[in-house]
Amino acid sequence: MRKIILALTISLLFFNCKTNSKKEKITGLITEKAMVVSAREEASKIGSDILKKGGNAYDAMVATQLALAVVYPVAGNIGGGGFMVYRTNNGKTGALDFREKAPLNASKDMYLDTEGNVIPGKSSFGIHSVGVPGTIAGLFEVHHKFGGLPFKDLIQPAIDMAREGFKVTNKQAIALNLTRKLFEKANNYKVLFDKEWKKGDLLKQEELAQTLERIRDNGQDGFYKGKTAQLFVDYVKELGGIISLKDLEKYRAIWRKPITFNYKNHKIISMNLPASGGICLAQILKSIAPFDLTKIAHNSSKYVQLLTEAERRSYADRAHYLGDIDFVNVQIDSLIAASYIKKRMNSFSWDKATKSSEVSHGAILGHESDQTTHYSIVDQFGNAVSVTTTLNTGYGSKVLVKGAGFFLNNEMDDFSAKPGVPNVYGLVGSKANAIAPEKRMLSSMTPTIVEKDGKLKMVLGTPGGSTIITSVLQNIINIVDYKMGMQESVNKARFHHQWLPDNIRMEPNGFDSTTKDNLKELGYELVERNSLIIGRVDAILMLPNGKLEGGADPRGDDKAVGF
Ligand code: DON
Repeated sequence: MRKIILALTISLLFFNCKTNSKKEKITGLITEKAMVVSAREEASKIGSDILKKGGNAYDAMVATQLALAVVYPVAGNIGGGGFMVYRTNNGKTGALDFREKAPLNASKDMYLDTEGNVIPGKSSFGIHSVGVPGTIAGLFEVHHKFGGLPFKDLIQPAIDMAREGFKVTNKQAIALNLTRKLFEKANNYKVLFDKEWKKGDLLKQEELAQTLERIRDNGQDGFYKGKTAQLFVDYVKELGGIISLKDLEKYRAIWRKPITFNYKNHKIISMNLPASGGICLAQILKSIAPFDLTKIAHNSSKYVQLLTEAERRSYADRAHYLGDIDFVNVQIDSLIAASYIKKRMNSFSWDKATKSSEVSHGAILGHESDQTTHYSIVDQFGNAVSVTTTLNTGYGSKVLVKGAGFFLNNEMDDFSAKPGVPNVYGLVGSKANAIAPEKRMLSSMTPTIVEKDGKLKMVLGTPGGSTIITSVLQNIINIVDYKMGMQESVNKARFHHQWLPDNIRMEPNGFDSTTKDNLKELGYELVERNSLIIGRVDAILMLPNGKLEGGADPRGDDKAVGF
């Protein structure tokens, strides 16, 4: 079962790979004032139209997120969660955590059998894998703090699209058809997605439209209380799950301080715990900062080697130290201190690969003891919003709330069910990321904003599970060190190392044979055949002339829209 889920998940996340190894200069959509880049044209357009009506980036965030919940059901969601990093037009930065959390009745060993072994698939499929959703609380929090237009105007386009339908793309039809069996297995009724789809079919979601109307009319309570909550909890009970009305009532989104650090005259602002993205990004960029990349060709063996070694060390720390900051004490400053990073990289040698078996987490000072989706927005006022949101793997738990028409996440799999046992992304964890009631599971999401000379330079992020961090990393390097344009950067072939398993995952056909031969000779194991595309980066670059360039990932149906 676990294997089937994994295979399906992976194919959903990554099918239809296209990488670009050609040399020609590629340019994305250029606009004068404002832009939204998301996984679907309809959602980007709805966000951009809100901006045109005078809404700001935060209004556009609400509208885009809700539109994605309709038009991109594989990951866009109201039954999941996510993270948002923002930068206002006067340079203030902040972050919102609307990550799911473990239900009150959750416990450390809830996915283990009587012998203490992990029960395959229990944390990643079906009703037991569901965390308490945070998306709607997140949207109301953003709207309350920053919104300009009335909430009802922001949600209405999503309601209309749910009711009137949208045309499924070829990629969507394939993904839906691949998941039919799992929809049947996860639910006790025939869900509307459970049929044979083809490109151009109209997908209408009346029950979802009604749920969105309850949110429009009753605010946050339209989701966390009243009819929607009752439908949610009744269905959870029918399927034998543990989420209660109290869980829903108690959910709160939390404002967090982003991780902020400098990389080669740029200021990077990224997500803090419970997302590991910002910390890992800081560790990896600081590890490679002493090296002059202008002397190392992009995607050459030296380049892959350097990043791999930095990634290996950072992911080893991630597995040991990182978890929900409200539950575990994480010495963030020590983990990203220059002196610590320098020590970690001391064992790096150009002569051969370090073995992951020889790398553990470092000793830090003062320490005692597919599918996601990303969208980037810049408005005509200069505000920037970077949001990564997810149900975890494609269509989450595959549970579609009966009578309410939305998918529930399978985010509980992002906890460490047992120390050292990998989750669906092959990530291992430790005590820091163990399950506890109301704790948030560790995430790899990395919504990021980059500043240069006190001005907004770039907004970016991606889905891709554990590969999120390294995809964001490579795009920052593409722009900062290799001076690429935004679309050019997004299209470039990517690779990934995460400590364990000890191999470099590479996009097929993206790397030349000399690069690969050199790496193999140094002792690196490469996984290329069947290794799949890595992430779907949606990003915006501020050009020197003040215009905006979008980077919409050609690996998906992603699209930049603006004016
Ligand atoms: O939070 C995380 O790290 C994962 N749940 C993200 C899942 C993801 O990116 C799937 N998409 N491709």
